[in-house]
Amino acid sequence: MKVVTVVGARPQFIKAAIVTRTLRARAGVHEVLVHTGQHYDDNMSEVFFRELGIPAPSYNLAIGSAGHGAQTGRMLEALERVMLDERPDQVLVYGDTNSTLAAALAAAKLHIPVAHVEAGLRSFNKRMPEEINRILTDHASDVLFAPTEAAVANLQNEGFGDRVPLVGDVMYDAAIHYGAQVEPSRLERLGVEPGAYVLATVHRAENTDGPDRLTAIFTALASIADAVPVTLPLHPRTHKALERLGLLAQARERLHLTDPVGYLDMIALERNARLVVTDSGGGQKEAFFHRTPCVTLRDETEWVELVTAGWNRLVTPTAQHTVAASIEAALRAPTPAEPDAALYGGGASCERIADVLLGASEGSPA
Ligand code: UD1
Ligand code: UDP
Repeated sequence: MKVVTVVGARPQFIKAAIVTRTLRARAGVHEVLVHTGQHYDDNMSEVFFRELGIPAPSYNLAIGSAGHGAQTGRMLEALERVMLDERPDQVLVYGDTNSTLAAALAAAKLHIPVAHVEAGLRSFNKRMPEEINRILTDHASDVLFAPTEAAVANLQNEGFGDRVPLVGDVMYDAAIHYGAQVEPSRLERLGVEPGAYVLATVHRAENTDGPDRLTAIFTALASIADAVPVTLPLHPRTHKALERLGLLAQARERLHLTDPVGYLDMIALERNARLVVTDSGGGQKEAFFHRTPCVTLRDETEWVELVTAGWNRLVTPTAQHTVAASIEAALRAPTPAEPDAALYGGGASCERIADVLLGASEGSPA
């Protein structure tokens, strides 16, 4: 079975890293990896290939940054050429970025079956670019790999029948596999004390592109930093937004801002933080995987089970005092109870995905 896997943005390198290992270990799988070039800085792309042993992509389309339409359109055109040349049996896509949508659309129009890892997540907020991407990708897909029961229910509500295997979350598999490689000495190099800092990440469009929200978040983090130091690996989008608003110098003074870090450093930071404060999808879950409580700087989340379980609390970041109060409350709160061990698939998600893909290819006519 020939699989074209399409990745392009940071979280997709991490998800593909762990699935690729499993897929390529199975007999009869030939995977062709395509990088759209959506993320291109060394610390947003290449570092993951180096650190996580991801095979070099067969194609790098070098699309780079642009508005949604231009970026997605350029990807669509370039991906169609790749798919016409490669003629795969399956196209495998991850998550909800513009790279995901372009790949799903290119494949579906060529009648190539699409498998979507992380299908069925919904924020029910169509102002998020990711919500558009994931809805359209799901509806262009043939196999929908749902990470959670909530995702299965969302897809069933949208009329998907038995094409929704509940496989768990490949990011949990990644956290276990790569987590075992993270030695404690990493933390010293990162300049933080175990259990004595807040780890923050911010990059979601609604927060970086809304001056009020970005100001509320960064002034709240600055106020917290008097009591607990805040370490924040800065996404390039947020770096530019802080510069634009004239907030960068103040943020540098009050917070420990770093460049984006590699995944192994990120695990070390998540594992040893007192609290994670984030608007990242992956970050919310990884906080829990490493049993660190989380405050999510968003109006809603797709990973609802962690809010129910008490490991994650949501705060709409429109005012400094509400963000600061939520962080302070989370810092004071007792450790939440352990949820069901089967949540997120118990670490066997990649194997289930490989089983389904190979089963589907055996069942299909030659
Ligand atoms: C994208 C995804 C988002 C995902 C995030 C992961 C979409 C619509 N959004 O958001 O779902 O959570 O990736 O990090 O696909 N930039 C650089 N260097 C890079 C990459 C980006 O400087 O290597 C800067 C550019 O100014 C660019 C901006 O960051 O315009 C935004 O990049 P883009 O890929 O468009 O969106 P993200 O915010 O990264
Ligand atoms: N991550 C990383 N270095 C960083 C910030 C994040 O390796 O400096 C990892 C993080 O551990 C997680 C993934 O990137 O695995 C999350 O990606 P991001 O927050 O960019 O996107 P999202 O998950 O919100 O789509």
